[in-house]
Amino acid sequence: MSSVATESLKPDTLHFDVSLAGLNTFGLAAKAARYYRATSVASLQDILRQEQPELVLGGGSNMLLTRDIEGLVLHVDLRGKHMLSESEHDANLSLQAHEVIVEAGAGEGWHDFVLYTLGEGLGGLENLSLIPGSVGASPIQNIGAYGVEIKDHFVSLDALDRATLEVKRFTKGDCAFGYRSSVFKQELRGRYIILSVRFRLSAKQHVHRLDYGDVRRLLEEAGAPITPRAISEAVQQIRRSKLPDPAKIGNSGSFFKNPELSASEFEQLRQRRPDVRYYELPDGRYKVPAGWLIDQAGWKGYRDGAIGVHDRQALVLVNHGGGKGADLWALAQRIQADVQEKFGVKLTPEVNVY
Ligand code: EPU
Repeated sequence: MSSVATESLKPDTLHFDVSLAGLNTFGLAAKAARYYRATSVASLQDILRQEQPELVLGGGSNMLLTRDIEGLVLHVDLRGKHMLSESEHDANLSLQAHEVIVEAGAGEGWHDFVLYTLGEGLGGLENLSLIPGSVGASPIQNIGAYGVEIKDHFVSLDALDRATLEVKRFTKGDCAFGYRSSVFKQELRGRYIILSVRFRLSAKQHVHRLDYGDVRRLLEEAGAPITPRAISEAVQQIRRSKLPDPAKIGNSGSFFKNPELSASEFEQLRQRRPDVRYYELPDGRYKVPAGWLIDQAGWKGYRDGAIGVHDRQALVLVNHGGGKGADLWALAQRIQADVQEKFGVKLTPEVNVY
């Protein structure tokens, strides 16, 4: 039995023995025994009435598939993006005169959505340019980069309860956002399917966030006026110089989270390595870059056949082509054990391992 690629398959129909290679940014050749791409809420409800999926896929980033899937893989492909009119705003939303609300379907690509908002002259998401994945996946792990997280612009989302098939609206408070985390990764893990997300963006009086990494320096070098679009271009330039393009080399961005240490754990690490990089957190704990730890442990640029560690950013594990998910996971575990032994720090994956 040979498997077929998903793009050529009719949507809203059940298919059998389907390759998921084009549906995960690692490009791993796992197979789904059954596959369904839903393009409307009604279609999602239909299939859920028949059977519960074993796995729900959004943009397929942040997912390390280590095996074939015996059950149903549900691909949420709800599209659409638009600015809301005032009558469509959530009640109790205190919107400033220069702000607008934009809504996007969960299946929209994240970067395409960011470009759409910039094209409309809106500011807010520019620092989050070029993050792989879908709009629907963005709140699950509260994606962040260059000093901005989506929680800074999030208003609300609609999600389908997999058990009751009812649609529920979640406000920002309901989502319990944290560093690369939300209620959908914790207490409500696996219970809801995100359908659409709303963001609060600025139509003028944009607030520029330039203090992370090289963003300000690049903009100053360019000498052009600072606009959301110019910031997006600087961020894209930085990301392209450090991070592999998933269209060329399979990867899922940062593989691990940056560990957060208590003051005493941090002191122990600093005694071992006085040159450790860190950021002090408002709650008195310390965040240490996992990329620095992995790099210092000697893994940057490591390669074993098709899989390895990116040579410009040690936090990114890569599939050069034809690698196996199980081998990538074994490599991740070796790195975890080595960093634990060398630095006494536990690394936690940012990606979902399946
Ligand atoms: N570093 C090294 N060696 C490396 C990589 C990093 O020494 O191989 C050092 C850098 O020199 C720097 C520090 O580690 O001092 C931090 O590196 P960087 O600024 O590149 O950011 P990061 O902490 O590695 C985080 C996010 C990224 C996000 C960038 C920029 C996490 C897990 N990762 O990476 O997010 O793009 O900051 O904001 O928080 C993602 O989540 O997929 C992702 C790419």
